[in-house]
Amino acid sequence: MPHPSSLIAKNMILPIYAYGQPVLKKVADDIDKDYPGLQQLIADMWETMYASEGVGLAAPQVGHSIRLFVMDSHKKPEDLKEGEVDKGIKRICINALRIDEFGNPFTFEEGCLSIPDIRGDVDRPDTIRIRYLDENFEQQEETFTELNARVVQHEYDHLEGILFTERLKPIKRQLIKRKLEKIKEGRIKVEYKMKFAKR
Ligand code: NI
Repeated sequence: MPHPSSLIAKNMILPIYAYGQPVLKKVADDIDKDYPGLQQLIADMWETMYASEGVGLAAPQVGHSIRLFVMDSHKKPEDLKEGEVDKGIKRICINALRIDEFGNPFTFEEGCLSIPDIRGDVDRPDTIRIRYLDENFEQQEETFTELNARVVQHEYDHLEGILFTERLKPIKRQLIKRKLEKIKEGRIKVEYKMKFAKR
């Protein structure tokens, strides 16, 4: 008889689709509760996000063109400055829809698991309000600010087929052009599993 633990489906680290993969440029679709393997997909997305040390991961980044992302903006205890309060949150957002985006624009250096080794300053408003379904398919409406807003805005962009590199200033975009081509072709070293557009 197998040990009971071997009967439980194990979470898997999924390959992350790299820059150049068409799925990253699609507008993702809403889903319903019956989306095949949804709970396993969410569990695998957590596993994948933590394994690659990301703070957010959108379903298109693992090859599913659906409106789902997960995020965990909590800081590691060792990364907290003395007296700093961790404002991090953990969310599963399904069928996210932007209601409003407002506030003072602020500049923040973004990166993306689908675009390894490239970081760049992106300006965005500091507040976003979205409507979404949580893991129990209950509707939520929530306003996110500062760094949490930034993660939501970045992941939300993935659902719209937009990558942060498209929001960089023209000069910076010019500078990273060749590097992006290399990523497309898989000619880069990366610590986690990826699926490249051409190889
Ligand atoms: Ni990203």
